[in-house]
Amino acid sequence: MNRPAAASSATLSIVILAAGEGKRMKSRRPKVLQSLAGRPLLAHVLQSARALSPAAIQVVYGHGGEQVRAAFPEPGLTWVHQAEQLGTGHALQQAAPELDDAATVLVLYGDVPLLRAHSLVGLLDIAAAGALAVLTMQPADPNGYGRIVRDAAGHVARIVEHKDASAAERSIGECNTGVLAAPARLLKRWLSALRNDNAQGEYYLTDVIGLAARSGVTVTPVPLADPIEALGVNDKVQLAELEAVCRRNAACALMCAGVTIADPARLDVRGDVVHGQDVFLDVNVVLEGHVTLGNNVRIGPGCVVRDCSIGDDTELFAHCVLDGATIGRGARIGPFSRIRPHSALGDGVHIGNFVEVKNATLGSESKANHLSYVGDAEVGAQVNVGAGTIVANYDGANKHRTRIGDRAHTGSNSVLVAPITVGEGATIAAGSTVTRDVPAGKLTIARARQTTIDEWQRPIKTK
Ligand code: UD1
Ligand code: CA
Repeated sequence: MNRPAAASSATLSIVILAAGEGKRMKSRRPKVLQSLAGRPLLAHVLQSARALSPAAIQVVYGHGGEQVRAAFPEPGLTWVHQAEQLGTGHALQQAAPELDDAATVLVLYGDVPLLRAHSLVGLLDIAAAGALAVLTMQPADPNGYGRIVRDAAGHVARIVEHKDASAAERSIGECNTGVLAAPARLLKRWLSALRNDNAQGEYYLTDVIGLAARSGVTVTPVPLADPIEALGVNDKVQLAELEAVCRRNAACALMCAGVTIADPARLDVRGDVVHGQDVFLDVNVVLEGHVTLGNNVRIGPGCVVRDCSIGDDTELFAHCVLDGATIGRGARIGPFSRIRPHSALGDGVHIGNFVEVKNATLGSESKANHLSYVGDAEVGAQVNVGAGTIVANYDGANKHRTRIGDRAHTGSNSVLVAPITVGEGATIAAGSTVTRDVPAGKLTIARARQTTIDEWQRPIKTK
């Protein structure tokens, strides 16, 4: 997203508060690492932060937070440790020494992941002009949120936390999203004046609003158009609610771009999708990582596709799992096929039910239609991998590669013990276990000869 030009050229510093324990998650994983639409909560916040092109991003993290740091090894982040969680104001105090006096500071929360950069630009312009901007909302249920208290003239006077609010204050519908922006120089002054004499015994960041108003600095509320963006994640119920929002947003974006979706409530996109025209996604499809779908691609019900590129006119039938594969045009995969990483299937390839392909290439128009394993193999074009063929790639210690030439046919229930090369046009008889190279253009049989014992009698029970 390009950032619309701000009113002033003051540098922007963003501070993300992410030290809260997240007790209600009942998880060993820090809250900001809980996954939403396939990415940690904090990754969503960082994406919006970066879209504003700040000069610096500080992340305030708490105990057990080494896990958080390790999850974001990328450069350009300054990590600030808050040893004890004494409140949002205390959290920002930890970041204050790093803030340049001349900067505009934007405060975001690590557990409020849906805010779009576009919704924050207005705050920056106000703060760059010397005022304090607070992002506000009118949620359907204001319970738990800080309330915006206005004076007789209608100006914002302070924020009262729900736990500290009187009955009258609790009836205020205008709420604090938690997000604010201000000039660093002023913010530092207010932060140093915070006290913790309140219901939670915490240093509330929200008290800077009262301090600003009393010192004559204008406090400008910026209403958030869509309160959904301010939804926070405190427990697994809210996490699932936000997941539903992400699911709907992703499906809407795809449909607006021309993708046909059988049921937008039953599609999960946990990554990015690049697609052509007339793509059809059936119910319960999960797309993860980076997925590229060509024109007329059809994905059947219950398929999971992760980090794959799928060519034009290819169809996946029901319940396929594809991971890290490149699929050509006009291929037919499934139902019940598994394609594992580093596999490349050519144009017109058919992979049928209960077939697993791993780290293998199949040339154009090759087929493996039933109950096979093709691992660590280079399979040529127009090869027919017979039902139940197993490429035995593993000797118990090492994996070996198998080469199968163009137009070769392997019989049903054959085992190809790697490393081995099967020549072009070779035929391997059904039930063969081949351990040496198979010559091109000939029939190779490697199984016991069929014999019939004429005089044989079936044993009978002794009385
Ligand atoms: C806060 C606001 C409230 C607002 C609400 C919106 C305060 C005092 N209250 O309340 O007005 O309506 O958000 O969702 O700010 N954090 C730290 N260190 C701490 C405490 C918190 O880093 O010591 C972080 C948390 O990880 C979280 C964020 O700050 O990302 C908000 O903290 P939280 O305790 O969830 O605040 P709320 O009670 O929701
Ligand atoms: Ca919260």
